[in-house]
Amino acid sequence: MAHVLVHADKVAAAKAVSAVIRDLIVAKAKAGQTAVLGLATGSTPLPLYAELIRLHREEGLSFRNVVTFNLDEYEGLAGDHDQSYRYFMEQNLFRSLDIPKGNTHVPAGTACDHARTCADYETAIRNAGGIDLQVLGIGRTGHIGFNEPPSARDSRTRHVHLDEVTRRDNSVFFGDLARVPHGALTMGVGTIMDCRRVELLAFGAGKAEIVRRSLRSAPSADCPASWLQEHPACTFHLDPEANSRL
Ligand code: GLP
Repeated sequence: MAHVLVHADKVAAAKAVSAVIRDLIVAKAKAGQTAVLGLATGSTPLPLYAELIRLHREEGLSFRNVVTFNLDEYEGLAGDHDQSYRYFMEQNLFRSLDIPKGNTHVPAGTACDHARTCADYETAIRNAGGIDLQVLGIGRTGHIGFNEPPSARDSRTRHVHLDEVTRRDNSVFFGDLARVPHGALTMGVGTIMDCRRVELLAFGAGKAEIVRRSLRSAPSADCPASWLQEHPACTFHLDPEANSRL
C-alpha cells in the first residue's frame, strides 16, 4: 500500500522530498557509492528542483556522485528544442548543479530506432545498479511518465502514443495543440516498479480525482498510477487540495 503524506503546501512537500534525496546522496557518498535518481518533468517537480538547487548552493550538497535517469521524452524533439524534456531538465536543474553532464540521461526523442533506444535505456539503468529513488508527477489520465492508459504492470521503456487529454493539457507549453507531438519514449510501469523507492508529488484540486482513483481503485492498466499501490516503498506527497477527495 502506498503511503500518503499531506503537506501544508507544495513548498513544504518539496522540502520533505528534497530532504529524503539529500540523505540518500549523503549516505551513498559516505559508502563511496553513486546515488541513482529517477527524475520527472512537468510543473509539479519545479519546487523540488528549486530546493535541490538551494541545497547545492547554500548547504554545499554535491551532485558529483549522482546519476540521473529521466522518465520520458517527446518523440521527435531534439535536446535543444525548448519543449524537450532534456532542455527542461538543463534549464530547471542540471545547469545549476555540479552534476557531470554524462551522468544525466534522458531518452533520445530523435532516435530513429525506438526499440533499440528503449532497450539501451533499460540496460543503462541496470548497469548503473538500478534506480534508488524515482520522483513522479501524475497526469490527469493517471499516467506516470508517459504511461497512458492502458499500461500493463510489466511494461518496460518503449514508444507510446499520447492521450488527447495529455496533448491538450501540455499544449499550454507549446502554445498550440498542433505542435504537441503525438508520441513519446517513456520508462514503463515495470521500470518504475523496479525503482527501490518512489516519491510521487501531486498538487492542486485538478489532481484530486486522479489521486483518489490511483489510491482507491483496484490496481489496473486503466489507471497506470494505481499500480503503485503494489510498490513496497511508495509515498504520495499531496497538498490539501490534491488530498481533498481521499
Ligand atoms: C507530463 C509528464 C509527466 C507529468 C505530467 C504532469 O505529461 N510526462 O511525467 O507527471 O506531465 O504534469 P504537471 O506536473 O505539469 O501537472
